[in-house]
Amino acid sequence: MIVSRPDNPTRGSILGRFYFKDSTDLTISRKAEDDLLRFRIMNPLLTPFSRQALATLPTPICSLPAIGTNLYMKQDNLSDSVYGGNKIRKLEFLLGEAMAEGRKSVITYGAAGSNHALATAVCCRTLGLHAISILAPQQTSDHVRKNILMQYAAGADLHLCPDYTHFPACTKQLVKHHLAIDGIKPYIIPAGGTNPTGALGFVNAAFELAEQMRPDVIYLPMGTGGTFAGLLVGLKLAGLQTRIEAIRVVDPAFRNAGHIKKLCNDLCAKLSIAPLIYDSDITIRDEFFGEGYGTPTAEGRDAVEWFKTKEKVQLENTYTGKTAAALLHDLYSHPHEDQTVLYWNTLNSQDFSNEISGIDFLDLPPAFHSYFE
Ligand SMILES: Cc1ncc(COP(=O)(O)O)c(C=O)c1O
Repeated sequence: MIVSRPDNPTRGSILGRFYFKDSTDLTISRKAEDDLLRFRIMNPLLTPFSRQALATLPTPICSLPAIGTNLYMKQDNLSDSVYGGNKIRKLEFLLGEAMAEGRKSVITYGAAGSNHALATAVCCRTLGLHAISILAPQQTSDHVRKNILMQYAAGADLHLCPDYTHFPACTKQLVKHHLAIDGIKPYIIPAGGTNPTGALGFVNAAFELAEQMRPDVIYLPMGTGGTFAGLLVGLKLAGLQTRIEAIRVVDPAFRNAGHIKKLCNDLCAKLSIAPLIYDSDITIRDEFFGEGYGTPTAEGRDAVEWFKTKEKVQLENTYTGKTAAALLHDLYSHPHEDQTVLYWNTLNSQDFSNEISGIDFLDLPPAFHSYFE
């Protein structure tokens, strides 16, 4: 494999038989899309499903030598040249299905500064779909303000509800509105893009990984759980023995092992295979969650700082920092030099400041103004 340092991702050395695209290859011409699609569907099990080429795959893997030996990072942060991160993989299948069904608009959900709602808006723009974000209030921050502005810049209609319980009523109203316009129901994507269709993106990611390396353990954040469930099923199908340490970043009532098992079983049903995930395959680590979703922890903050100073890798406090905290805890409390460890970076790392620099927040729907005042 080609392993590149994150601070110099264009340089690499061949360590194995597989070639990794590096960051210089991020702008792949759409003209080769058909070939690319064929290349990027990594297993025949996935060919029945509609898909749109959105991500730049395979994402590269780099080593993190200043943090640990035998420690690597899967750079899904570079999965797209405009807005990367883990959501793009799910959206390839979700929006592929929307396009195949002839939908014109897409409704999705999240907190005001949701990474998923933003990724959906950006991908909808690429495909000529109309994105509609139904959002719930969230404490403001630079990250939240940036994501709201970028959703707007990508052309999404923004709706802010008083809280999550208003999502169904708001959806009903908007569906009725769109049906009245063109008779076509908007395609609905659940929060986080997590359902069996979205999780197919991570089944594919597992086959992609199997061609790059076979780690002993993977660390990743567990939010809505689509990334985790897709990888669990995909790794089994690809014949990898890899254990996943899924780091809780949401409340246990919202997602727990029971939800993940059900999602894995539904995913297997979608793939027309027998269930293959056992309770013992599902490891969810609760110790790094702290006081709640989006509430930073001291260990998470330290881990963000550690990754930044040691490897020039930018993380954040809600998902990737808590995951890095678990990884660092394990690496330093019981070193496992004999094991190959992969940190799955799910965070977008593309800077989109240029796209939002000219936007006046007063152009946003009034409900969002308080985020900027
Ligand atoms: C940066 C980042 N990492 C991880 C996740 C969690 O992924 P999943 O919802 O598939 O568990 C999210 C979800 O929003 C995210 O934004």
